[in-house]
Amino acid sequence: RTARFALDPAFTVGAVDPRLFGSFVEHLGRCVYTGIFEPGHPSADTDGIRTDVLDLVRELGVTAIRYPGGNFVSGYKWEDSVGPVDERPRRLDLAWRSTETNRFGLSEYIAFLRKIGPQAEPMMALNLGTRGVAEALELQEYANHPSGTALSDLRAAHGDKDPFGIRLWCLGNEMDGPWQTGHKTAEEYGRLAAETARAMRQLDPGVELVACGSSSQSMPTFAEWEATVLTETYDLVDHVSLHAYYQPVDGDVDSFLASAVDMESFIENVVATCDHVGAKLKSKKRINLSFDEWNVWYLLEHQKEAAENPLDWPEAPRLLEDNYSVLDAVVFGSLLIALLRHADRVTVACLAQLVNVIAPIMTEPGGPAWRQTTFYPFSQASRYGRGEVLDVRVDSPTYPTEKYGEADLLHATAVRAADGSVTVFAVNRGRAEPLPLEVALNGLALTEVVEHSALADADPDARNTLDDPERVTPHPVEGTTLQDGTLDAVLEPLSWNVIRLR
Ligand code: AHR
Repeated sequence: RTARFALDPAFTVGAVDPRLFGSFVEHLGRCVYTGIFEPGHPSADTDGIRTDVLDLVRELGVTAIRYPGGNFVSGYKWEDSVGPVDERPRRLDLAWRSTETNRFGLSEYIAFLRKIGPQAEPMMALNLGTRGVAEALELQEYANHPSGTALSDLRAAHGDKDPFGIRLWCLGNEMDGPWQTGHKTAEEYGRLAAETARAMRQLDPGVELVACGSSSQSMPTFAEWEATVLTETYDLVDHVSLHAYYQPVDGDVDSFLASAVDMESFIENVVATCDHVGAKLKSKKRINLSFDEWNVWYLLEHQKEAAENPLDWPEAPRLLEDNYSVLDAVVFGSLLIALLRHADRVTVACLAQLVNVIAPIMTEPGGPAWRQTTFYPFSQASRYGRGEVLDVRVDSPTYPTEKYGEADLLHATAVRAADGSVTVFAVNRGRAEPLPLEVALNGLALTEVVEHSALADADPDARNTLDDPERVTPHPVEGTTLQDGTLDAVLEPLSWNVIRLR
């Protein structure tokens, strides 16, 4: 059976916020140390930033970069991470049972963003686990106040005369999770988030604030948590956060392939909860969503390993270094499609994480950097997924899944750029059969297929590694046609597809 949908410029979802293509750098494992920062590496610049990684970060096309955690932030003292490097303290990082040297800190993070280029925007998480309003305000003053106060002058004395201009702030991280240092009830967190937000707006009404939502849709407190937190913070914050990670459970690959069904329902349920609170408060304001952690993550395996071999406080250990297959990249692409399909409300999203730790970019200390399979869907979506998302309602053959019942074989979205060109992003979840696709292009003056690129492989387990870093790359697909307003393509089994039309 053929999968079908129609595109029409009159039916749109919304404009893509560039920050949908954000990422995340946490002090965790080798994301920072020997990831982005490795003084002495042959490619390192005078600040110790690996320029081979910097080049890949630019190619990946990331925008907002969330920092410094994650779970790490709930024990973070920002003061430790500024000033002369030799005087910075070594600290225990309770979240990852590691030792934090603070050789890379706030100033280095901002310098890293500036090196990436103007597309990179800071997204700073605050410690609301073990700290509170006062420390948040101090960090805000140190980072953003121009000069003439103790903390802004301290920043200048540390070598950063210009303010960092951090506009986007996360009010804590995963505060609903019992694993979080300083975990709180929704009532406790809601009050703290509200008071922090109120104080930060006294300093600068222009800040953009993200309140913590649930760590996943399966948390027992899900939805009630959001409702309680937003009741306290509705007028004070701009976004609520969502986090989701996916992996095959008990070898159930068919359900894994349909992970975006969960992601889309999560988004829709959070939107419903936000709007319910807004309606109760009789507010005209709309809260948007910051999906500030998402990815494929083989979490269950890592949790087992951590329970069996607890770490003895090493520096920058190899942690959570998942090596992604073609199968993982197809699911990953489908998660990107889910985000784009909800671009009207998901205005920030961060791929967790950027380098080495569940990441699209891998490095070897002293050695090369390379692209994982997941690098490609992200870089293509970031490059071609800018503009207006068109409303795509697929009529697709389905397949049975244990977790989600009948799921569509086709998962798709389409983005119309300012110049009128359109890019279709499509995944064939079918493992055995190619999927014929027919798209009616109503009212779109498109005449030509510029490119059909696919990520697929006869071996769905194929991966890129240190020894074979280019084993998997996207390939061109022949035979895709656009005639009389109809696009015809065939999607290979288990494939991520980018079809560019003009
Ligand atoms: O991204 C890895 C971890 O996942 C983050 O530190 C935490 O916020 C989440 O549980």
